[in-house]
Amino acid sequence: MKVCHTVAECRETLGQYRRASESIGLVPTMGFLHAGHMALVKEAKRHSDRVVATIFVNPTQFGETADLDAYPRNEARDLVMLKEAGVDVVLIPEVADVYPEGDETIVETTRMANMLHGKVRPGHFRGVTTVVARLFNFTQPDVACFGEKDYQQLQVIKRMTRDLGFPIEIIGVPIVREADGLAMSSRNVRLTPQDRQAALVLSRALDAAEVSDAPTVDALRDVIATAISTEPRATLRGLDIVQAETLNTIEDRLSGAVAIMLSVEFGGVLLLDQRVITL
Ligand code: PAF
Repeated sequence: MKVCHTVAECRETLGQYRRASESIGLVPTMGFLHAGHMALVKEAKRHSDRVVATIFVNPTQFGETADLDAYPRNEARDLVMLKEAGVDVVLIPEVADVYPEGDETIVETTRMANMLHGKVRPGHFRGVTTVVARLFNFTQPDVACFGEKDYQQLQVIKRMTRDLGFPIEIIGVPIVREADGLAMSSRNVRLTPQDRQAALVLSRALDAAEVSDAPTVDALRDVIATAISTEPRATLRGLDIVQAETLNTIEDRLSGAVAIMLSVEFGGVLLLDQRVITL
């Protein structure tokens, strides 16, 4: 596995693969990898001859410097995991390589970035699309894999890719869960043992939603909010029930593919989970 610390070095290596007519799959990450990231690598390997992963804690998608500083990092362990998973190239660029001095270009999906989670995290999705567009240019992959757990992020990236005409297939990879149902996330390590147990209410609430015959948005919202309220350690922070592809609001009756996006806080740690149900 080749580890590149500059974009130029990475371009050079990937250029060799391309000249040999090998296809390239990209797995962008912010490091501190877990089994969810490994599922992205596995999917990228299924779709391409070579896999490049990036590790870059992107400053433009964090609202507060404190969050950026607190973001967990473990590069040595990440590299071991990526190597074991069969990744060919890892790009770990410096901030100045991604955002050169005097940089003034942003990429934004103007509607999708500013709704739902984007309302509570202003600028977050603009930061994501700006960095992902750059990573696409640096690596020029044939496919790129993103987790379905960050459902809005996946839809935003799909829309940006389509709008800008990047010839890249975006692959959404299903959530990887712990044996007890908790969606894997770098944030899980910050939960106390009691909150870790309490957090199972997320998948329970989504299960309840899936088996309910709730005909309307309000009825489905009630099913989920009631399930969350059974857990005293949980504070419901966000519950969005939207059309799965456009993220548009559903006025009343549920039909077609519907995405449920849930965010719940446990002792200061915000956890996300989501499910798409088809009615
Ligand atoms: O999902 C993430 O880890 C990040 O948002 C991404 C896509 C790597 C962009 O920084």
